[in-house]
Amino acid sequence: MMNTLFQLPMKYKVLFTGYLITIGFGLLMAGAQIMLTHGMADGKPGLSIEDIVYSYYGNRSGSKLEAMLEGAMKPMAPDDARFELIQWARDGSPAELWKPKIEPLIQRYCAACHNATSAQPDFTRFENLKKAAEVDRGASYNSLTRSSHIHLFGIAFIFMFMGWIFAMAEFPHPWQSLLIATPFVFLVVDVISWWLTKSFYQFAWLTMLGGIGYSLASTVMLLTSLAQMWLPKERWLAFWTRESP
Ligand code: HEC
Repeated sequence: MMNTLFQLPMKYKVLFTGYLITIGFGLLMAGAQIMLTHGMADGKPGLSIEDIVYSYYGNRSGSKLEAMLEGAMKPMAPDDARFELIQWARDGSPAELWKPKIEPLIQRYCAACHNATSAQPDFTRFENLKKAAEVDRGASYNSLTRSSHIHLFGIAFIFMFMGWIFAMAEFPHPWQSLLIATPFVFLVVDVISWWLTKSFYQFAWLTMLGGIGYSLASTVMLLTSLAQMWLPKERWLAFWTRESP
């Protein structure tokens, strides 16, 4: 039987406390970073389901080119020219159609205002029009793979030590094991849900749930461990083990 946190020699209490407090700050910073990077994805502050959808799935209602041709640029060209441009955008702006079909339309209807010297984007250049024709598909597979493996490896270490320390706490039994398992389960759920959300925006809530789940479980483990190391035993024993001191 291992030592309980309460009985640990001072040097280990200091070591574990330093670790847990650092991790606690890390979790807060991670929360702040999520608010800043994902929280503004829908243009409004605060993390919402839309932010998660925009971050992973993207805003696929169409491209800027299409939106402008249906909106402010509608009077600039006759319908058949506009439809041709929209169709080209929807087909993924194939380069082979640029010279024969698209460039002539641009020269004729758009270049007066969208040229190299105008304040507007220069659509006489293929790359610029292609950019305006792109649909926002959210996170790339590349960036998802990168953040997935960093997350899984990095955070697993954090939960490993956090769980190890918490395993020495006095805690009602089935619950202690369950709490130790919880962050790992939610971490995997969270990462899987990014991939699901990239393809199906309906899974955005699962990403939210995963993040909330492992934050809550870590908070309980962290505070319990700190309390049992530093507070007098009679303060926490009845609370956590339902035994009288
Ligand atoms: C009479 C001038 C004029 C013509 C002709 C014109 N545009 Fe524009 N365009 C503008 C102005 C001004 C803006 C910026 C104002 C705005 O965003 O509403 C703009 C903005 C745009 C944007 C958004 C650019 C961005 O990144 O913000 C797109 C896309 C666009 N135009 C496409 C076209 C296309 C395609 C044509 C040809 C069918 C065209 N425009 C013809 C004046 C013009």
